[in-house]
Amino acid sequence: MNGSLRTPIRRAWLLSCALLVMTALLLVAVGPALAQEGVPPQQPSALAPAGPNSAAIANVFNIVLVIAAVVFVVVEGLIVFSALRFRRKAKDTSEPVQVHGNTKAEIAWTIVPALIVVTLFVLALQTLQTLDTKPAAAAEQMTVKVIGHRFWWEYQYPDLKITTATDLVIPTGKVVNLELSSGDVIHSFWIPQLNGKTDAFPNHVNFTWIQANTPGAYLGQCAELCGPSHANMRAVVIAKTPEEFDQWVKDQQASAAQPADALAQQGQQILLAGACIGCHTIEGTAAQGKVGPNLTHIASRTSIAGGMLTNTEGNLKRWLTNPPAVKPDAVMPNLNLTQSDVSALTAYLQTLK
Ligand code: CUA
Repeated sequence: MNGSLRTPIRRAWLLSCALLVMTALLLVAVGPALAQEGVPPQQPSALAPAGPNSAAIANVFNIVLVIAAVVFVVVEGLIVFSALRFRRKAKDTSEPVQVHGNTKAEIAWTIVPALIVVTLFVLALQTLQTLDTKPAAAAEQMTVKVIGHRFWWEYQYPDLKITTATDLVIPTGKVVNLELSSGDVIHSFWIPQLNGKTDAFPNHVNFTWIQANTPGAYLGQCAELCGPSHANMRAVVIAKTPEEFDQWVKDQQASAAQPADALAQQGQQILLAGACIGCHTIEGTAAQGKVGPNLTHIASRTSIAGGMLTNTEGNLKRWLTNPPAVKPDAVMPNLNLTQSDVSALTAYLQTLK
């Protein structure tokens, strides 16, 4: 008898404890969310913004999180309170008071949620407007054309006459307007710490902008399923100080280096005589293909194969030996190169700083 009477109380206690644990977990999760614009972590998080575009998104997320947390605590608190306050007392066998309808309560629980939804709608609309508006007021701006390919990103700097891939290099503190398009299917350009997901369509230019507050490497990921290697279609934005950026521009504008050592020279001959030139451009040589990434300064990049592999000798060899084995459905075919050809080509590519 005693045991059965205690059961509702025990349940209420369990519920309260569960609520406490959930609130604690929520607070632990909120901690990093509330941290403002900081140093890029290894795992990119949209909640650790590194520029004003992503800060606007993180800001609206934090406000929604706080509103949702208040609603959660109030609603669950009322449930726990009711369970404890109106539980059946010991030896009380009478029927509880029978009520039907309460106009005041019904009006309240209709109007309050409606007001909350309207608030969220207005906040989201304001944030969308911030992200959509070309920040014309900013004194310093530049434009980069971002073109999605299966499965890598191409970056063209029309004002600077630079074409590169995989690493998007930008100066800190400057608004960088991104004109997004695609050479094949729909991709989505997403650098969590710098911008919200923005689709890149074929035959249509989409717009977004980024700005990095501090130098660093900000990792990104194609966010629209675009084929078997969608997950391998990565991106990195490298923000340099304005001085370092100017130096990078000068280096990129130069024609490709001429190889000095014998192995690299042999690699250059193989490249210029082979199928490579049908797809790749190396400025200052006969290679003027436009299908694959521009290789003029490939050795200056941090990664290859659409950001999948770090740019090392071993990885270059692995890639050249059989690209589709590394990255499923890669457009670059297996050219059945001999290992000596692969070594020579790798030596040449590593001179293209
Ligand atoms: Cu490109 Cu997914």
